[in-house]
Amino acid sequence: MSTLGQRLAELNDSLTPAEQANYKLILGLSAGHLAQENSVGESRQTVTDTLHQLCPYEVDKVEGLQYRGRPDFMTDELLHKLQNEARSLESDAIPYDEHYLGYGGSVADQVAVSNELTEMVTAIVPKSAPTGIASYLFYRDPGQGIIPHVDTDIFSLNILLMLEHQTVEGDPEPSALTLHYPDGTTEAVDLEAGEIAVFLAGTQAHSRTPIKSGEKVSILTFGFMPEGAPIENYRR
Ligand SMILES: [Fe+2]
Repeated sequence: MSTLGQRLAELNDSLTPAEQANYKLILGLSAGHLAQENSVGESRQTVTDTLHQLCPYEVDKVEGLQYRGRPDFMTDELLHKLQNEARSLESDAIPYDEHYLGYGGSVADQVAVSNELTEMVTAIVPKSAPTGIASYLFYRDPGQGIIPHVDTDIFSLNILLMLEHQTVEGDPEPSALTLHYPDGTTEAVDLEAGEIAVFLAGTQAHSRTPIKSGEKVSILTFGFMPEGAPIENYRR
């Protein structure tokens, strides 16, 4: 007998593409809400199972980090170039509640479509392809961060490069990318500058814990999508 998660996943097959997008949004909002409440009941497990079944990527384990580390191509020289580009774009970055958004950096745009990044990501998540979109995110106002959520298509495969993290001296718990699991546990991923984290943000609930006064985080994210997917779904 199939589980409720399997039946909910099967329902997806009978929907039109527009309905599927809505269905995914509802499931993602539910998963984010249940993670915020840190519910550990059957509902959260079922929503998580359904999202896992609908995951468009073929990986051994959908949950958790797919990769964390500093790849060889992220040399000190390249990291410095990206850090400098981030600083040059920061003053014109667009303010949002959760962070500031900067884009249009030529170095970041080159990395976004580079063979090095594509080879690295496709070795971790097969049949994925770059969207060519690179976004600088700056968390610098106290309280900025993102509550637990699951992303829609645009960030469904998240490639996140830490550029700079200025912490408050002696702070035992600096802001961190945090993964939220359906059993109620969380995993803080406190990245060093130059480190990359890869995870399936369209499936795995995640947050950034709030920035404190005097703290600052600058990251660069690269968009990837399932190979052959309609690019319109992966642009802002
Ligand atoms: Fe996200």
